[in-house]
Amino acid sequence: MSIHFLTIETTCDETAAAVITEDLHVLSSVVASQDDLHRRYGGVVPEIASRAHVERILPVIHEALRRADIRLSDLAAVAVAHTPGLAGSLLVGLCAAKALCAALDIPLIGINHLQAHVYACRIASGEDVFPCVGLVVSGGHTSLYRCRGPLDFELLGSTIDDAAGEAFDKVASMLKLPYPGGPSVQHAAEKGNPKAYDFPRGLLDDPDSPDFSFSGLKTAVRYAITGPGRHDPTEFELSEQQVADLAASFQEAVVDCLVTKTMRAAAASGVKKICVGGGVAANARLRERLAAAAREAGATLYIAPLRLCTDNAVMGAIAVEKWRAGRLDGLDLDIVPGVVRGS
Ligand code: KG4
Ligand code: ZN
Repeated sequence: MSIHFLTIETTCDETAAAVITEDLHVLSSVVASQDDLHRRYGGVVPEIASRAHVERILPVIHEALRRADIRLSDLAAVAVAHTPGLAGSLLVGLCAAKALCAALDIPLIGINHLQAHVYACRIASGEDVFPCVGLVVSGGHTSLYRCRGPLDFELLGSTIDDAAGEAFDKVASMLKLPYPGGPSVQHAAEKGNPKAYDFPRGLLDDPDSPDFSFSGLKTAVRYAITGPGRHDPTEFELSEQQVADLAASFQEAVVDCLVTKTMRAAAASGVKKICVGGGVAANARLRERLAAAAREAGATLYIAPLRLCTDNAVMGAIAVEKWRAGRLDGLDLDIVPGVVRGS
């Protein structure tokens, strides 16, 4: 009889639960996306996200248990992403996890959502991906880690302003492309010239800075559309080719920064494995450029399949590592909305 874990994910706008065994078999994975609720606002509205989590959390957990064909009484522990994320969203998952642990008298395991994004590569590949350099690129975060082991993460750098995914979403709305912005910018970029506009690569010229910056790039795209002055970019009529060229040039600038900083970090730390996770890791151009850079550096690249790049509860399998290490949490566990520097 294997040991079962329920993992819960509510850090942003996906309500997700999964059932995983101690030997890392995924028995079920359920993700309820809120894209339809946030589309009209062009971004995630925290208040709407937390209310939607409240509505969905119990049906999602119930469905995860049903698909895994187990009962609540079969659970050995409940794991929940308690950092980082939107406070109201994190609270819903944490309260649900605590209620289950209290009722079933089983341990609670708090997990770091960004470390879980890296761990998605471990689950997807079935290989030991550690030690590695881990890049997490999502709507809320752009973080680079040195990961000595599954529970030993050191934050090397992160964005000092916008996250990469946030920049994709904002540029998409300037170009009047549909939400979520990442996939639509990628699609528009397919017919564009990545050299049409010479957009800035924030902090790329500073070899000592492991951090990222995308707000200058976002502003440069805005001015490329509007010219100088404070105009609303959506009031400008752009040709299909202009949209494609802007999208391709923007995407190339983001990808340049992500690839260069990741490869620099890998070279500096001497590791030959690179793990990439988060919604932006679904980007085809990023995947292509990272694969080429890793090949050139003689490193092995692990990028999760698309369904494990965007938010999901399967990556919460990192809880199994904590279980094995005896690193359990009490019912006093709190949310930590900001990024944690170490593990
Ligand atoms: O990891 P995720 O699902 O949620 C957060 O934790 O933020 O990432 C969502 C982000 C959004 O900003 C979305 O536009 C971006 O990932 N994204 C992409 C692509 N698919 C999703 N960005 C670029 N290219 C894509 N193909
Ligand atoms: Zn995420």
